Amino acid sequence: QTALIHRFNGIPFTTRSSPDLLKSLDAFDAREDDILLVSYPKSGTHWLAQIIMQIYTPKVTLTSPIEFGDISRVEELNNLSSKRIIPTHLDYNMLPSNFKVKQCKAFYIIRNPKDTAVSMYHYYRDNPNLPTIDSWTVFLELFLRGDVVCGSWFDHFLSWEEHKNDRNILFLFYEDMKKDLPKVVKKMSVFLGVNISDREIKEICEKSSFTEMKSNVEKENSDPNHTVCALTSNRKLIFRKGAVGDWKNHFTPKENKMFEEMFKKKMKLSELAKHIIYEYHIQ
Ligand code: A3P
Repeated sequence: QTALIHRFNGIPFTTRSSPDLLKSLDAFDAREDDILLVSYPKSGTHWLAQIIMQIYTPKVTLTSPIEFGDISRVEELNNLSSKRIIPTHLDYNMLPSNFKVKQCKAFYIIRNPKDTAVSMYHYYRDNPNLPTIDSWTVFLELFLRGDVVCGSWFDHFLSWEEHKNDRNILFLFYEDMKKDLPKVVKKMSVFLGVNISDREIKEICEKSSFTEMKSNVEKENSDPNHTVCALTSNRKLIFRKGAVGDWKNHFTPKENKMFEEMFKKKMKLSELAKHIIYEYHIQ
C-alpha cells in the first residue's frame, strides 16, 4: 500500500516516478519550442492534449510526462527530433529550470477544486497505482491536507498562479472549455501562433468531445510506456463523467463548509481564484 508512494521534496509521488528521475530533473534539457501542458491531476489534461494535437498540423510528438518512469526516459525524450508537447503535474518550483530560462510556452489548466477532488477520489478507487481509500470522507481530509499524490491542490495552483502574468503561460479553465470550447480552442491557437479556420475549430471540438474521446479509448490498447498522466498508462480510467458540479453529489454541507474555509484561507490573495468563485459559483 504505502509502498506505492514515496516523497520527493515533501511531495507524494507514485513509484511510477522514480526518485532518481526526479533528482535528475533539474538538469533536464528544455528546447525553446517545447510546449508544456501543466495541471494538477484530474483537471482535464487529456482533454487539453487531445486539442493541442489537433491544432498542430505539422509533426509534433506528445511525450510522456517528464516525471514519468525511471532515469532512462530522459534520454528517450532527448532523442526525439520533432517538436515536443510535454505534459506534467509538477508544481512550478519543481519544473526544470531550463524551461523557465528558455521561456517555453506552457498551458496551465485549472478545474474547480471540488470537482477535481471528486474526480481524484474515483481515480484513487479505480487506479491500482494509487493506495486504497476507505471512503470519500477520508479522501477529502487527505486532499485538504495535501496528503495525496502531487501534494496540495492549493500549493500547486498558487505556485503557478504567481506566474499568471508571464507571457509564455496561458491559464485555461476546465469550466470555460465546457461552456464554450470553440472560444477556448481559438484562444489556444492564437497563443500558439497557429492559424486555423472556424471550420477546423468546429472539427477539433467535435473530435474532442467527452463522448468521442471515451468511445475511442475503449477501442485502443494502452501502451505501458506512454501516458499523458504519470499516474497510469491505462486511459480507460480517465473518462468517467466529464461534468461540471459533480461535487454536489459527494459533499455533505459540513464537508462543503470545511472546504470553503480552507479555500478562503489559502486563496485570499488569488485573482484567479476569484474567477473560480464568482464565475462558476463554486459555493
Ligand atoms: P471526471 O473524473 O470528473 O469525469 P485528467 O485528464 O487531468 O486526468 O482529468 C480527467 C478528468 O477530465 C475526468 O473527470 C475526465 O472525465 C475529464 N475529461 C476528459 N476528457 C474530457 C472531455 N473531452 N470533456 C470533458 N471532460 C473530460
